[in-house]
Amino acid sequence: MKAIVLCAGKGTRLRPLAYSTPKHLIPLGNREILSYVLLQIAEAGIRDVGIVISPDNGAQIRGAIGNGENLDLEVRYITQEVPGGLAHAVKVSRDFLGDSEFLMFLGDNLIEGGVAPLLAEFAVRKPDGLVLLKAVEDPRRFGVAELDDQGRVVRLVEKPSEPKSNLALVGAYLFTPEVHDAIDRIGPSWRGELEITDAIQNLLDMGKMVISYELKGWWLDTGTKDDILDANRVLLSSGSAVQGNTVVSGLASCEMGVSGDATLSGCEIVDPVSVAQGCLLENCRIGPYVSLGAGVTIDGATITNSILMEGTHIVGPLVVEDSIIGSRSLIRGEGSNVVLRLFLDNDSSVVLR
Ligand code: DAU
Repeated sequence: MKAIVLCAGKGTRLRPLAYSTPKHLIPLGNREILSYVLLQIAEAGIRDVGIVISPDNGAQIRGAIGNGENLDLEVRYITQEVPGGLAHAVKVSRDFLGDSEFLMFLGDNLIEGGVAPLLAEFAVRKPDGLVLLKAVEDPRRFGVAELDDQGRVVRLVEKPSEPKSNLALVGAYLFTPEVHDAIDRIGPSWRGELEITDAIQNLLDMGKMVISYELKGWWLDTGTKDDILDANRVLLSSGSAVQGNTVVSGLASCEMGVSGDATLSGCEIVDPVSVAQGCLLENCRIGPYVSLGAGVTIDGATITNSILMEGTHIVGPLVVEDSIIGSRSLIRGEGSNVVLRLFLDNDSSVVLR
């Protein structure tokens, strides 16, 4: 069993931050989204992983993940020159995949419990495809599956305007090499992409067995700023945030203290938060649901439900909520106690008078 992780695509809904930071490298609880995905692949016992990158984000993703040895993975990189769709990404991975069965994991999807249960089901029932499904409120944003009364998959439609069920396709799929022939048989969709949803429908049309597995735990599709903040909240609450950095917990009204190698003075910390090394926090209230990257400094501010990336400086008096602030940014309030909701790229500067 091999795995491919799809990280090409444009990330337009996450601009402006996506101009400098591929969405797969946005830190949640001080670990990049892509690292959670790779960790789950390693936990499922898969070693050979191909990461599909674009010409724009490839160097940054390679730089962050390297050859995967710290996760006991062998990572190869596959460049998809244009974002031609998820099935197109499989096509460009063909040499890497050879005749193996494989897991296809979207590099911006996080799922509770990982992928090991799917692999177990696939091994027992031996289908040609397995799709992971989750009941959602608004299925129009996703691929949608229709099941018959026996629970068998009968039809899959990509982002239907009138969905026939509330079961969305989650971004983790398992395939035998049969899927390559199915991809060769489909054409581009209305949005000009080779859709994996159409390829799976083609497997069904050819009489191949496609099974579904319903995800009971959480699913985080990190496509927008609000999705990213939701994901940060869930990961911090579930204790999945990174180990090795300081995860401060149970510290209320810390008068003068050092936690890990962050320095706190006159701060109130409201769980859960993740504070990386070298942070300097003075006279502030942090949390809940706050991730602070390495070397963040905050003086005289209240921060809730936010991600502040490394090296950012906040000088109060200020209230920052529901914000994502790129690395090395400066936010300075001068005398006003305003409430800010920010979404800023790296190296931004905001000064309030
Ligand atoms: O998140 C689940 C949904 O993912 C499914 O419900 C849909 O059926 C499936 O088509 C997909 O929909 P999206 O439109 O949300 O996919 P998106 O364009 O956001 O791409 C998902 C990931 O795949 C992302 O990490 C970028 C990567 N990608 C995307 C394209 C279009 C590639 O690597 N290559 C590509 O050509």
